[in-house]
Amino acid sequence: MSEVFEPVERTSRTELSALQLDRLQKSLTHAWRNVAPMRRKFERAGVRPEDLHSLADLARFPFSTKADLRDAYPFGLFAVPRERIARLHASSGTTGKPTVVGYTQGDLYLWANVMARSIHAAGGRPGDLLHNTYGYGLFTGGLGFHYGAERLGCTVVPVSGGQTEKQVQLIADFRPRIVCCTPSYLLTLADGFAAQGIDPASTGLKLALAGGEPCTREMRAAIEARMNIHVMECYGLSEVIGPGVAMECFETKDGLTIWEDHFYPEIVDPSTGEALPDGEFGELVLTTLTKEALPMIRYRTRDLTRLLPGTARPMRRLDKFAGRSDDMLIIRGVNVFPSQIEELILKSTALAPHYVIEVARPQHLDEVDVLVEMRPEADNADARSQAAAELQHHIKSYIGISARVRVVPVASIERSLGKARRVVDKR
Ligand code: DLL
Repeated sequence: MSEVFEPVERTSRTELSALQLDRLQKSLTHAWRNVAPMRRKFERAGVRPEDLHSLADLARFPFSTKADLRDAYPFGLFAVPRERIARLHASSGTTGKPTVVGYTQGDLYLWANVMARSIHAAGGRPGDLLHNTYGYGLFTGGLGFHYGAERLGCTVVPVSGGQTEKQVQLIADFRPRIVCCTPSYLLTLADGFAAQGIDPASTGLKLALAGGEPCTREMRAAIEARMNIHVMECYGLSEVIGPGVAMECFETKDGLTIWEDHFYPEIVDPSTGEALPDGEFGELVLTTLTKEALPMIRYRTRDLTRLLPGTARPMRRLDKFAGRSDDMLIIRGVNVFPSQIEELILKSTALAPHYVIEVARPQHLDEVDVLVEMRPEADNADARSQAAAELQHHIKSYIGISARVRVVPVASIERSLGKARRVVDKR
């Protein structure tokens, strides 16, 4: 096993379980004592922190959801007085008020550490130049990577999102070894290099730390080949801390190692909430073990994956996310994830990985349009109609729905500046 940022990354399963049980008891007690809405939930479920005798007992405790955060907007789930909160972040939902999350100084220290650990595990080292395109501000991506990279000892270029032309220039001039961005923005950057006639392979970039949105294996392979870099996946969510919950390790590159000494994972059946054994697919539920300002107990992430045994570290891994349960489209009764359509687009040698899925119900039935661009080098009228017919056929035979594929002009699909919007649901 290669070197690690923190010795705890090598802790054996037995020691880790003991640490988790101890921290879980403390975290439940902290939430019970200091967060009134949580205590009421525990009471309704008839459980108290002292009922937790084993890790499996956690399944007796109630879930938390985004709705709990919204109901307590803005600060009602904080377990410490507002004056002890050192920073606020927020994530904007599609509707209504944002969900607000808070950090004590201790939480910020923990966050920078798990981020430094993540960047190190993905292959970053002290002294590396790191170009950070994640948005700075209320979004957790920018500052999360920023402080983690500083803690590790990197030279940080805090560019934030947007201004792709300038970003390309800075990358060409400063020659960072690492770029941090969403997978879809990595594609936008790749196009930006092409537009300026710069070969990304000539820039010195070796690693992309990519997360914040789903990315299929096919999409990742396409980006890696185009930019001649390793794309390492990063996972996290504001409600739990931000980025830094799980990271892919460079030596195995086989899924996201979850930092189980701080975040306790469970997989549950998304419809019944029943806990599922490791290896089975379901919804990821996370409990924070060490957070002060906003302890989260059994938070329903809506992210669909499964738990796998550890490889690069004894800590368990998360499999590639199939998507979010709330991103799942139901098309005439068939469950479809945007990632399934992405996989099929990436199989085509003529189509570019720029697409949008439009869903409408003009009368009584759902209709799906897949808008996709050609690769510039493959773009001609014959190739267009052939690629469209092939994709339409693949969608029908692999996914089981009838979709209309519309090949649109090169560069007409809006490029991502952060998280890509893949679905336009007009129903
Ligand atoms: O996106 C935190 C983050 C920033 C993670 C940068 C990684 C890199 P939120 O805005 O709260 O926080 O969105 C969290 O994004 O529940 C997932 O649905 C999705 N997501 C994050 N990482 C991945 C990933 C940040 N690697 C939500 N694969 C999560 C798939 C991801 N989905």
